[in-house]
Amino acid sequence: MDNIKQYVQNNKERFLNELIELLKIPSVSADSAYSQDVIDTANAVKSSLEKAGCDFVELCETPGYPIVYGEKIIDKNLPTVLVYGHYDVQPADPIELWTSPPFEPVIKTTELHPEGAIFARGACDDKGQMYMHVKAFEYMIQNNCLPCNVKFMIEGEEEVGSSSLGWFVERNQAKLANDVILISDTGMISNQQPSITTGLRGLSYVEVEVTGPNRDLHSGLYGGAVANPINVLAKMIASLHDENNRITIPGFYDKVEELSMAEREKMAQRPYSEEAYKKALDIEEVYGETGYTTNERNSIRPTLDVNGIWGGYTGEGAKTVIASKAYAKISMRLVPNQDWEEITELFKKHFESIAPKAVKVKVTPHHGGQGYVTPIDSIGYQAAAKAYADTFGVQPIPVRSGGSIPIVALFEKELKSKTIMMGFGLDSDAIHSPNEHFGVFNYLKGIETIPLFYKYFAELSK
Ligand code: BES
Ligand code: MN
Ligand code: MN
Repeated sequence: MDNIKQYVQNNKERFLNELIELLKIPSVSADSAYSQDVIDTANAVKSSLEKAGCDFVELCETPGYPIVYGEKIIDKNLPTVLVYGHYDVQPADPIELWTSPPFEPVIKTTELHPEGAIFARGACDDKGQMYMHVKAFEYMIQNNCLPCNVKFMIEGEEEVGSSSLGWFVERNQAKLANDVILISDTGMISNQQPSITTGLRGLSYVEVEVTGPNRDLHSGLYGGAVANPINVLAKMIASLHDENNRITIPGFYDKVEELSMAEREKMAQRPYSEEAYKKALDIEEVYGETGYTTNERNSIRPTLDVNGIWGGYTGEGAKTVIASKAYAKISMRLVPNQDWEEITELFKKHFESIAPKAVKVKVTPHHGGQGYVTPIDSIGYQAAAKAYADTFGVQPIPVRSGGSIPIVALFEKELKSKTIMMGFGLDSDAIHSPNEHFGVFNYLKGIETIPLFYKYFAELSK
């Protein structure tokens, strides 16, 4: 695999152009207006796997969007790597905050990406990172150095909860049998300091509806005499955290895994500058649970956040009105041992219990999933660490991420294998935000590093 660097350099333009073509298709899974584009993207991924050298590729129909499955089985006695990724993307809005249209990819330089970054929705999450695997596979086929069997499973509903993938995995255990699952859908510390994601948080996502009077009312005629659902909702939400920013739902912390002091000290050794963190976000101060550092708050601690809140009049000018209803979407990020269904139940019970009699409350669970932690002494982790060390010249650091890929816990349960998360994005790549981008350096480094994972995984499996 000595010539991988050369191969990437020689094919750099083509690799970029192919990704740019994929990014032009707006595969927004959350919005049914894009359903044909989502399907077109599945077909594009299918044909890229065929061209790269899979023996067999198919679109697997599900109750939702199809799953692209491809494989190259070279020898039943060799280990099998299952690559997972997603071809769907987040909605692009608010569109007016993009400096270039989200589905017209362009390469621009940034402070952290002096070699340029591709700006487009999905550039990093996850089309860019998923496509690195297709190109790394192409390299191994072209150069006759594929040391493992490979299966690809690329889904189109990750950003909306992966419900069809759960359905698919439960029905296809034999087809998906593998020795390790490999995912690039996370980040790393910086381009100078690679890291391997060893943990993901779980998630419980709910929507709440608060109903007051049976119709919108004049806020002068009725104001002060009936419950205003927006006022009440705001008060209820505010009460969900105490003065130490701890969540007040009874039982919420009961099962939270507490890390030992030694583990926390180890975590604190990762390079991190609070000054740079605050500067990048234009904030005077960080904010969170008392007694924990920023890196702990956003990885090993559970959280509760309002993701959206609405009701009443939000148009131009002023309208004096007491709305009949108020709404909010709330996510809870969970840590190991917290069960998402149990937490959803605790939330529902608590939220209903704190509602004043003057309103009615409805809690609707959306989706969720368990958190995940992967050990660092597995063959898969060791292979990934060696691969990063080779291409970056620096030993990677294990890091627990605050994000969620709920399906990973299900993979372990159904397929009985560990997942290795080799992410190449940066937190500053603005995934889910306007101006999402993915560094050209990161994209190409990913393509370079992945074949080394296969090589070391095969060697260590012997
Ligand atoms: N790729 C992200 C998750 C991620 C990003 C994990 C960076 C770690 C580091 C994934 O596409 C995502 O956005 N997941 C959602 C959950 C899903 C159920 C919608 C999330 O974390 O909000
Ligand atoms: Mn993703
Ligand atoms: Mn995402």
